[in-house]
Amino acid sequence: MKNTTEIIHATVDFVKKELVGAEGGHDWFHTYRVWKMACRIAEYEECNKLVVELAALLHDIADAKFNLGDEEAGPRKAADFLKASDLSDEVIDHVENIIRHISFKGGNHQQGFRSPEMDVVQDSDRLDAIGAIGIARTFNYGGFKNRKIYDPDIKPDLNMTKEAYKNSTAPTINHFYEKLLLLRGRMNTKTGRAMAEHRHQFMEEFLNEFYEEWEGVK
Ligand code: ADP
Ligand code: NI
Repeated sequence: MKNTTEIIHATVDFVKKELVGAEGGHDWFHTYRVWKMACRIAEYEECNKLVVELAALLHDIADAKFNLGDEEAGPRKAADFLKASDLSDEVIDHVENIIRHISFKGGNHQQGFRSPEMDVVQDSDRLDAIGAIGIARTFNYGGFKNRKIYDPDIKPDLNMTKEAYKNSTAPTINHFYEKLLLLRGRMNTKTGRAMAEHRHQFMEEFLNEFYEEWEGVK
């Protein structure tokens, strides 16, 4: 297998198969959106487009959350798959590194790896975590975990360690403060930052509406 189009096609087929039965916020359609967005942002950035596409496609094939906390499951699976095609070790290592470091691990976690390609894929993944889609995914995940929608007595915790963030059982609304509303300020690329603005505003509006309805004000 040599040509780029063939490699991308084979990767799409592989990822679709790996994600059969995945939770609705981390399924093939999440990957599809991240992939398309990454291609779009990549047009404005100096970067290796093949690395961007492969990393976007493979970034969630074995999320540690759904693999007994194994943070190496995803990068390992991706690298094993890519080794079957004629890609350089450099490309494979790069994709593996992006997958290993892309995930948000709480507001206080220092990220260990960066590259222009990582910046593009991470921004795309983050854009899918905010705005209307972000809201839908978040409540889907909360339902999947049987979390409360909201509990005014359980306040968001902005000082969680990576471990605490991973093990949190807080209501879904708290996730907006613990992650979603922080993402706008953490976008890597100019394009991503501009796109995050509208999605962020939309979440703010959603939250205002939510609290008003909660109290029967509206
Ligand atoms: P990353 O893509 O940075 O690894 P996650 O996979 O943890 O982030 O989160 C992706 C999406 O899954 C979040 O944006 C959110 O929609 C949902 N999600 C993850 N953790 C939670 C949580 N504790 N409560 C509600 N939704 C969550
Ligand atoms: Ni993702």
